Amino acid sequence: GITRHYKFNITMQSVTRLCHTKSMVTVNGQFPGPRIVANEGDRLLVKVTNHVPNNISIHWHGIRQLRSGWADGPAYITQCPIQTGQSYVYNFTIIGQTGTLWWHAHISWLRSTVYGPLIILPKHNVPYPFQKPYKEVPIIFGEWFNTDPEAIISQALRMGGGPNVSDAYTINGLPGPLYNCSTKDTFKLKVKPGKTYLLRMINAALNDELFFSIANHTLIVVEADAIYVKPFETDTILITPGQTTNVLLTTKPSFPGATFLMTARPYVTGQGTFDNSTVAGILEYESPIHSSFSIKNLPLFKPTLPPLNDTSFATNFAEKLHSLASPEFPANVPDRVDQRFFFTVGLGTSPCDKNQTCQGPNGTKFAASVNNISFVQPNTALLQSHFFGQSKDVYSPDFPINPFHWFNYTGNPPNNTMVGNATKVMVLSFNTSVELIMQDTSILGAESHPLHLHGFNFFVVGQGFGNYDPNKDPENFNLVDPIERNTVSVPSGGWVAIRFLADNPGVWFMHCHLEVHTSWGLKMAWLVLDGKLPNQKLLPPPSDLPKC
Ligand code: C2O
Repeated sequence: GITRHYKFNITMQSVTRLCHTKSMVTVNGQFPGPRIVANEGDRLLVKVTNHVPNNISIHWHGIRQLRSGWADGPAYITQCPIQTGQSYVYNFTIIGQTGTLWWHAHISWLRSTVYGPLIILPKHNVPYPFQKPYKEVPIIFGEWFNTDPEAIISQALRMGGGPNVSDAYTINGLPGPLYNCSTKDTFKLKVKPGKTYLLRMINAALNDELFFSIANHTLIVVEADAIYVKPFETDTILITPGQTTNVLLTTKPSFPGATFLMTARPYVTGQGTFDNSTVAGILEYESPIHSSFSIKNLPLFKPTLPPLNDTSFATNFAEKLHSLASPEFPANVPDRVDQRFFFTVGLGTSPCDKNQTCQGPNGTKFAASVNNISFVQPNTALLQSHFFGQSKDVYSPDFPINPFHWFNYTGNPPNNTMVGNATKVMVLSFNTSVELIMQDTSILGAESHPLHLHGFNFFVVGQGFGNYDPNKDPENFNLVDPIERNTVSVPSGGWVAIRFLADNPGVWFMHCHLEVHTSWGLKMAWLVLDGKLPNQKLLPPPSDLPKC
């Protein structure tokens, strides 16, 4: 591999969408941010310099960061944020990963404007395990807020209520023609007939799982979260915040000048207020220069997306995803399990602050938790305090392996919905093979939660509805070709079972990738200790590591 240098200057930039102009935090003035392209085996050196008033940090979502946890990026977990006027070089090597990943700010809600694709091509002369595409196109979904998202979340946290929803979804930063004042801001993909395109899709939206479809065209799913999958055909994909999905799109043999809409809108599993609007982009067939064809005479084809709450589509789609599990791309599912954990994930409540009138249920504040613990962000980074042996007042190493109280997770919620507040981590010795069940709770209504684990890929060995049954459900686990990924949707009123090998020393954040749930505390951290051998230890911190 080679070393690739990038410069990320964090600057304010004025951007207009939906006829609203605002000054927002960007990388190099671009929205969405710059695309990073590298080959497997390359080293990336990204120098991030902060020229804005906000603190910032950047996360390389899905990159394993083997022994290089200092470059992972979540603020107050693996690093103190980069303060105004300071810079930090993220230094990491891409080992054993190819495909579509992405990067985003990892502090407060800044990722709403600070994000971009991170594309890892195979090593030179290594082909894809599918037809070579004529062209590759990143498609990154996001959300546009007419106002400052930082103000929206800080107001919501103060008042204890839910934040305002966004004003539009976007494709590559553009809301598209179905919104007012947005026809010019439409993503257009010009295609030639009879060619195959690789669409690299990323869900960078803050708070919504999205359905996506292109009118009159079939998609072949070939990769998810930078892992090849057994190809399958579908009209629609479902993509959860944090996830990436690569699909092949083969254009029709001849369709001069025809235009087809591609649209995305949410899959909604909870109550509450959701933006159920639709972002659209345009797939346009090249027309011959001297064509007598007039585009105006052609109908505009529109796709049909599943209904907003189509859980059976979501379940079927999840079940279609399988690892290749071929000799060349084996699925190394851990077959032994050293430690089993059962985590409840869901919402809850916490007391209203003094002198506030809170907008949460019964005058409380909304909260969210893992095993009833709402994670409290420390004032310094967990990884530093661990590495320098100064963890005593920063975190406690006693994250519970089970929830405190048993209840019928998918039935009536318990009388007491209050969460506990703490900074607790789960400690694992090196190479522990972990099985983790994540169970959605019905507290304040069942809702899907896209759980993202930093530092690892995990195998999704099972999923189901209702309460997880430790006696029956493991019989149906798929240990042969389960999907391997970094973000999985814990289904509304159900559970998922994942396995991973803790072969990466460091502190690894795990959280719901619905940003409002992260803000409410649906997050925790794993601390993986060093192994005995020299190559099983976390590398020492770089000298420019920011201080708090
Ligand atoms: Cu994509 Cu912790 O995040």
